[in-house]
Amino acid sequence: MTVQIRPAACHDLDLICRLRLQRSSWLAARGSDQWSTAASGLSIDYFACAVRRAVSDWETWIAEVNGEPAGTITINDRADRELWTMAELADSLIVHYLIVDLRYAGHSVGQHLLAHAAALARAHGRHWVRLDAWTTNYELHAYYQRAGFRLARIADPDNRSPSCALFERHVDRWLVDDGGVGGFPMTPLARYPIVLPALG
Ligand SMILES: CC(C)(COP(=O)(O)OP(=O)(O)OC[C@H]1O[C@@H](n2cnc3c(N)ncnc32)[C@H](O)[C@@H]1OP(=O)(O)O)[C@@H](O)C(=O)NCCC(=O)NCCS
Repeated sequence: MTVQIRPAACHDLDLICRLRLQRSSWLAARGSDQWSTAASGLSIDYFACAVRRAVSDWETWIAEVNGEPAGTITINDRADRELWTMAELADSLIVHYLIVDLRYAGHSVGQHLLAHAAALARAHGRHWVRLDAWTTNYELHAYYQRAGFRLARIADPDNRSPSCALFERHVDRWLVDDGGVGGFPMTPLARYPIVLPALG
């Protein structure tokens, strides 16, 4: 099985929204409130707007397995308000909206996408890949720990976001194929990290 990663284009927006809806249903069927709007998860409309912006800024990527879209990730240097410190943001790339199509679960597509984030971080001279995970989804926390991340902390309990479990992994602890990002557009990073509204 070959996993290839390419930048997302505008025509991928429907696919990315479908993946979000597919996995939201999967989560609900497992009894998780992750991504549910009742638990302050993003509405699909807000999600679509955020991804549209990210796609146009070359921040969103598609993993293909044998030429078929199998997953997505958005990688930039922005995070919800009051999660990471400015110093942490300045030395990291942040992962958002990591989703793998259920049809490709169990084939390490997510690991490839996370490794791509590490390769991009390295190419930008940043040392950390960081992300926030749904605070109460301990199975998801276990997934990131198996993927080599450590729980940095649970962000301020007064934070309104339901996604406050902060995970990080140093890029040096990754076997990164730096050649993989060579032909891709490198989005200039914000001079000062921009913070998004605090929502899951
Ligand atoms: C997280 C994800 C991208 C990982 O993809 P992957 O590396 O290809 O790994 P898999 O899909 O095979 O999942 C690995 C394990 O983690 C579990 N897992 C992954 N996301 C989970 C979640 N949100 N809640 C509970 N368990 C989860 C899977 O059930 C699987 O468990 P198993 O090995 O017992 O079957 C993918 O599972 C996914 O799309 N999950 C739902 C969306 C999500 O939570 N994204 C992360 C947001 S921070």
